[in-house]
This record gives sequence, structure tokens and C-alpha cells, in this order.
Amino acid sequence: MSKRSLSLLAAVAVTLAGSAAWLTFGRSAEALTLVQPTDAAVAAAEAARQVSGSAVTSVTLTAAPTTVRLGNRTVQTWAFDGTVPGPEIRLAAGDTLKATVVNKLPQPLSMHWHGIALRNDMDGVPDVTQKAIAPGATFTYTFIVPDAGTFWYHPHTGVQLDRGLYGALVVTERTTETVRDIPVLLDDWTDGLGETPDQVLARLRAGSASSSPSGHGMGDMGGTDMSSGPAGQDMGSNGAGGTDTGDVAYPAYIANGRTPDAPAEYDVQPGQRVRLRLVNAGADTTFRVAVGGSRLTVVATDGFPVQPVTVDTLKIAMGERYDVELTVPRTGGVLPLVAVADGKTGQALAVLRAGRGEMPMADVQPTELTGRLLKLTDLHTTTADDLPAGSPDRTYRVRLTGSMSGYDWGISAPTSGGVTMPVREGERIRLMITNMTMMAHPIHLHGHTFQVSTGSTPGPRKDTVLVPVMGSITLDFVANNPGQWMLHCHNIYHAEVGMMTKVSYVR
Ligand code: C2O
Ligand code: CU
Repeated sequence: MSKRSLSLLAAVAVTLAGSAAWLTFGRSAEALTLVQPTDAAVAAAEAARQVSGSAVTSVTLTAAPTTVRLGNRTVQTWAFDGTVPGPEIRLAAGDTLKATVVNKLPQPLSMHWHGIALRNDMDGVPDVTQKAIAPGATFTYTFIVPDAGTFWYHPHTGVQLDRGLYGALVVTERTTETVRDIPVLLDDWTDGLGETPDQVLARLRAGSASSSPSGHGMGDMGGTDMSSGPAGQDMGSNGAGGTDTGDVAYPAYIANGRTPDAPAEYDVQPGQRVRLRLVNAGADTTFRVAVGGSRLTVVATDGFPVQPVTVDTLKIAMGERYDVELTVPRTGGVLPLVAVADGKTGQALAVLRAGRGEMPMADVQPTELTGRLLKLTDLHTTTADDLPAGSPDRTYRVRLTGSMSGYDWGISAPTSGGVTMPVREGERIRLMITNMTMMAHPIHLHGHTFQVSTGSTPGPRKDTVLVPVMGSITLDFVANNPGQWMLHCHNIYHAEVGMMTKVSYVR
């Protein structure tokens, strides 16, 4: 074929691709052009986040194979700067984070800043917002962190998150905060103790149920799952459909990088007010959290404040965060913070120490674990963060599909002209997410914090919400952050086999 006919073919291909986008979006047929991460609208949104008097915090994070000590176990894994969790990043709202990520892994890497309403080109999704960082290469992420709250960072490539590659990203108020705060990162651990995450994924794909702890194995669908009731009723149980969020029996569960037989200890004062910033960095485990000897006052979730609510225990799904406060008893003592792997065998432990006292046993089970459990309907956003009343400009119905037997998790979302869930800047968007499966899925939207409709207004602002077994969740957000944004299950194995889609800003 001549050069000329080749370029003619190319021109035809371009025209076809272009015309495919000419479909109905809104009232009439119109062209849909994606707002790309490099678009001027993305830079303009970032410029609007500038506040005066802000500072720049610079960090370097080096991802590399390493040996780490997890309490009483030594493992080969991949981690940032040789520690699990990776270094804590802390800066004030309005400041700029300049994070240089050095990739010394044998695989490409990209870094996602979970929950931050950041500029799209820094969101760290390979082939969507950037080219992955090649082995040996370096990439510098520079972005403003607009909102105070508890966030975290992790790779967005393959199942790397299920290694040691994660850390806390704490954004403080610009005014000085006085409460003592302790980030607590919970994780399910296999790398170096059992299979590597890549081996876990391969086994799940092959359909072996050998390590299924909760009855999701082949030929065992239904049974135990039906106990979580018909659609919608799980809203009353912290959104959790019983024990239905994970399939992998992990050899260990850790809190701040330590196994429960050698837990992390934090010195606190009798009578002191302490805020625990709980982060579930696990890949396939929901945790049930309680502190022996204290109730917990939930003050924020997913980085956004809620009207304080006091409970004995709460469930935290993968990707979620809860900020809880407690007052250390005047009598001091040793308070175990326990995170039970929901529906699995094992738990993570950390210790708050206010004076002398025996270390708790690794398998301590405070009575608070069976006390009042936080429900999704208990969470109400503060007035300041309530989305302005209004009906959605656009509603998309999203379905979660798949089964354990096929390990074929998926998410189906409407498309228009080949564009998945197109939205325009300024619109109010409603997503109605229906779970057609027998597992609960923590669904996360990048770059935005939505408001969940729980039937008990005002619902909480969140970026990750557990959609119960055969249930639905309705959430609203304002399309105020142009770009291409992932919507996916935060069970990293589910995401990796396809439970991942996108909200696309278009012009
Ligand atoms: Cu924390 Cu796309 O994920
Ligand atoms: Cu899932």
C-alpha cells in the first residue's frame, strides 16, 4: 500500500472515531470531547484552589523491594523508604504537596492520593491520567491539597497495594489543632508470609477456593449470604452486608505495620483527648474496630467531618477512613485497639498506653466489639459540608456484577457516544449503584467527595462507600473537578479483574 493510501486510511479512522462521539448527550446530538488531564480546565481548577499564605511540603518516596520487620515477623516485600506503612505525610489544607516518587520496583508504578480533590493529571492512574513510572524512573507529583482530613496514598498499578506500598496523608486545618492524633493504618498481610499478591490474584482467577474463609468459594454461593437480608436492609448495619467483603484468608493482619503479638504502642496521658485516624489499607478485608475501655466518638469519615456520634464499635471497609475520638480514662491504664478481620480468622492490634499495665494478649476481644455498632444512617455531614439542595442534572445507574465462582467482578455504567458517564463541569450528578452480587463492595470515586443518601438526612460526605449485598446506594456529587476519574471497587482483586469504570468530564 502506498504511503498516501495509508494516511487516507488513518484519516478515515480518525473520522470514524470522531463521529462515534456524535451521539445524544442531553437534549440534542452534540460532540463529546473528553476533558483530558492536560486540559486547560484542569489547570484552571487548580488555580482556583490557591490560598494565600500557603506553603510547599516536599517529600521523596522511594518504592523498592526490601526486608521489613512486621512486629514479630520478618518479610520480603515492596515498600516505600523501607518501612510499612510508608512515611506519614502531613501538611495543612491549601498547601502544595511536592512528592517525588522513585520507582526501584521491577514493575511500572503510579501513585494515587486517595480521597484528595486534586488536579486530574496528578491522580496517578496509569494510562488515564499519566504514563506509569517505568522501573528506574522518577516522577514528581505536585498538587494543592484543598481539604483538611485523613487521606492516604497507594499505587494504582496491578495488585501492588497488597504489598507494603501505602502510607497516611494527613491534611490538617490551617489553624493549629491541639488534639493528639494517631493515624492507624490497618492491613491484611500475605506478602513474604504466604502467597505474593500476584499469586493470590492468579489463584482467584483460576477459581480455586482453597483459602476462601467466608463461604464465597465455588459452589457455595448463597447459603450464608442470604442472612444479610434483602436489598437495602443492610443500610442499618453500617452498610456492611455481614462478612461479605473478602475472600482471602490472610496469614496476618497488622496495624501500623505490626502483628498483634508485638503491637505498636502509643504513649498517651490519663484524661487526654486522642483522635485515631483509622485507615483501611487492606486489599480484601473489612475490619471491625473497638478500643477496650472506651467508647468511640466518630468525628469524620473519608476526610470530611460528621456530626459527632458515639458508638462502641464500627466497621471500616477497604479504602474508607474514620476519625474517632476518645478520652483516655483518668485512671490511665493500657487500652487495646482491636481490628477484627470481619468474617475471617485473625485481628490486628495497637495499644494506647497511659501508665503501667500488662500488654494485652494478641487475641484480646474487648466487650466493646459486641456493643453498639455504627450504622451508615448514624452519619450526618455538618451544615458546612452539606451539598446545596437540588435535583441532579444527570443520573447514572451503575450495576455491580459478577460472582466468586467465575471471579468475574465487573461494573457496568452507561455510556454515551463511547464515553462512560459523561458529565459537564458544574453539573450535579447522581449515581445509583446497585449491587447484583452476593458480596458487598466498597466503591470509591476519585477526585470528589460525594454525599450518600441514607434516608436520614443529611447523609455523610464520603469518597468510598460499601454497597451492601443485593442492595443499592445513591450518591450525589457536584462535578467541580474536571478530568477523567475512576470509579471502582476498593477490593483490589475485584478492581484488577474489572470492577472499575470512569466518570468522564466532557466539553
Ligand atoms: Cu484508593 Cu482508585 O483508589
Ligand atoms: Cu468488590
